[in-house]
Amino acid sequence: MNKIEVKHISKTLDELPTLADISLTVGENEIVVVLGPSGCGKSTLLNIIAGLLHPDRGRIIIEGEDWTGKSTRVSYMQQKDLLLDWRSILDNVTIPLLLKGMPRKQARAYAANYFEDFGLQGFEDYYPRQLSGGMRQRAALLRTYLFASDILLLDEPFAALDAITRRKMQLWLLDLYQRYKSSILFVTHDIEEALLLADRIYILGSRPAVVRREILWDRGSSRYPEIRKEILEILEEESNGGYF
Ligand SMILES: Nc1ncnc2c1ncn2[C@@H]1O[C@H](COP(=O)(O)OP(=O)(O)O)[C@@H](O)[C@H]1O
Ligand SMILES: [Mg+2]
Repeated sequence: MNKIEVKHISKTLDELPTLADISLTVGENEIVVVLGPSGCGKSTLLNIIAGLLHPDRGRIIIEGEDWTGKSTRVSYMQQKDLLLDWRSILDNVTIPLLLKGMPRKQARAYAANYFEDFGLQGFEDYYPRQLSGGMRQRAALLRTYLFASDILLLDEPFAALDAITRRKMQLWLLDLYQRYKSSILFVTHDIEEALLLADRIYILGSRPAVVRREILWDRGSSRYPEIRKEILEILEEESNGGYF
């Protein structure tokens, strides 16, 4: 059974059709990447899947159940994911466990188990401002993971990082995924990132966003240059071949 089924989602924002009849699926233990130009509606789509925004039409089905307009089933790392500056890293990442009613002491002990794998060991009592960009994103990812570990929606989690840190984070995420397994819907505007992480890629067109192409992908495939070129052509068409 698919973990997520997005069925014919449409949404108009400020009288502008933003999403038009978007359908996609995320299977069990699969990384699905939604790739599209900035401003095409990727975050809007994730907000709808996470249940924070109602679609005008269409349904969000999670493990066979209708979750349209209802939140809390999946974990969601939003593009502007802010750690709380006044709480230590450990107290930031335990928030979802406390929300679920786990006693504080137990939540801290439980979350602490993950610090090594998330590259945060020794930083439990640091505050967000004392951490590097990559560490902050790993902390935000851990907080997301502890909310609901089976389905993760990640909105451009590495976009703000410098190129080398971004690359390290991508490889780390892949390694983590291969050990922990989850169903991940990962949004990006970066082709290389999509090809590095995805089992499947949906390319979105813009104004309004539609699914332009679905690509079954094999990480590390020798067809990389060819597929990359094909994707680039679609994205260039979307921007009308101009410079702007
Ligand atoms: N709450 C909102 N109200 C009106 N327009 C919005 C809102 N959120 C986003 N938009 C607009 O909808 C379009 C898609 O935005 P967004 O989903 O953030 O795109 P992406 O994440 O792909 O960059 C953009 O033109 C943006 O300005
Ligand atoms: Mg966005």
